[in-house]
Amino acid sequence: MRLSPFDEPYLTDPALVWRRVLAEPGGVFHDPALGLWLIGSHAHVRRALADPSAFGNALTLAPIYDVCPEALEIIMRIDAPPTTAAADPPVHPRTRRALRATFANTPDRVERRYGPIVRRRVDELVSRLVAREGERVDLIAEFTAELPLLVLLDLLGVPERDIGRVRAWADGQIALIWGRPDPAEQVRLARSLLEFWHYCQQLVQDRLDDGGTGEDYVSLALAYRNGDDEVLTLAEVASIVFNLLVAGHETTAGLLAHAVDQALSVPGRWHAMAADPSRIPAFLTETLRVAPAIDGWLRVTRRPVTLGDVTIPAGERCLLLIGAANRDPSVFADPDRFEPARPDGSEHLSFGHGPHFCIGAALARLEAGIALARLTSTIPGLRLTPGHRRSYKPNVAFRAHRELPAIVRIGPPVGPPAVPEPAGAEAPAA
Ligand code: HEM
Repeated sequence: MRLSPFDEPYLTDPALVWRRVLAEPGGVFHDPALGLWLIGSHAHVRRALADPSAFGNALTLAPIYDVCPEALEIIMRIDAPPTTAAADPPVHPRTRRALRATFANTPDRVERRYGPIVRRRVDELVSRLVAREGERVDLIAEFTAELPLLVLLDLLGVPERDIGRVRAWADGQIALIWGRPDPAEQVRLARSLLEFWHYCQQLVQDRLDDGGTGEDYVSLALAYRNGDDEVLTLAEVASIVFNLLVAGHETTAGLLAHAVDQALSVPGRWHAMAADPSRIPAFLTETLRVAPAIDGWLRVTRRPVTLGDVTIPAGERCLLLIGAANRDPSVFADPDRFEPARPDGSEHLSFGHGPHFCIGAALARLEAGIALARLTSTIPGLRLTPGHRRSYKPNVAFRAHRELPAIVRIGPPVGPPAVPEPAGAEAPAA
């Protein structure tokens, strides 16, 4: 069984491949071309996410291919200590405690702490779209990728003038780790990642120098640390920032893009959400299930692990196919059907599961919920551009649209959607 994640069929409709993975007995394979074990069934993916004694995170942020020596030499100079996605016990429980204490992660706290920032940024971006009435816009560049990044810069206290650099660094990191860059590109991306790491270190140093008394995340983390390296070292604070700037941006951008795409490509969905915003949370949950922003995530076996009839040796890298697990028919009835009212939707694994469960899940849902409510009510006639063919960036972890062209129309919708629904998600209007 081969995944061929960089080939057109997978990039256009990964659900076809996930169906094949799920149809094989056990749903666990070795893909020799990728050098990864593929794990697809919901039960196995859930277990791997939740069991750090068997499935470690040490290589979760290491490139999936053999990096060329010149790029490797640069990567080795990035001395960011593992804190979140790449940390295992005993470090991870300590850094996770720090994250929980400093980053709001329940719906109530997120609304209180981050709600005003999110609303201000949504209003700003929606107003910019409204000003383009009648024009063609790219919803990715002008809304879905922009909002989470602006919110994150506000939360972390990063100057807005640096948005272009941070965007390029974050995109570059994702391409370097989970993409397929050629050697020259690897070197360029490795240099950019080193620069990004130095930037995060400097951000922490600047907060230290100015006393760090603000409400921004870096100041809060420094206050939590209170000068005690046993709690968190300064390098660990910088490393958490380094991780948040990527983890909190491309992911939420993906959720927003997939949700807008699902909503605009089936008659009635956009209008139904404008008329009744209480439909939005279930719509987002179903978008997370059917079109996860992260559809594959890495672990490495820390000892031989038996899943069903297959034993994976120690030290093997595994790609947990979250997208396949979310369509496992043993958990989800009629799994390819996009059905926001389904009772089993929240069993999806799109935010992970267990000790590494996404710390930003509540923030992502808040951002996407406010954004969809404002977009549907303010631009009821928004339409995808006729003839648009979806295409996604080549990546084994992040499923990101290259563009989502649309026509801004403030008045009521005219005619049926001009672009068919994304592949593998058939359903009537919400
Ligand atoms: C739709 C949006 C998002 C998706 C789909 C998503 C998905 C994920 C996934 C799959 C994991 C790995 C869980 C695991 O290994 O078990 C994760 C972890 C993480 N996410 Fe998110 N994420 C999203 C938004 C965010 C946001 C907004 C932030 C912060 C601003 C964030 C910060 C993190 C961090 C720090 C971790 C590592 C947690 C740990 O290792 O303890 N994420 N996320």
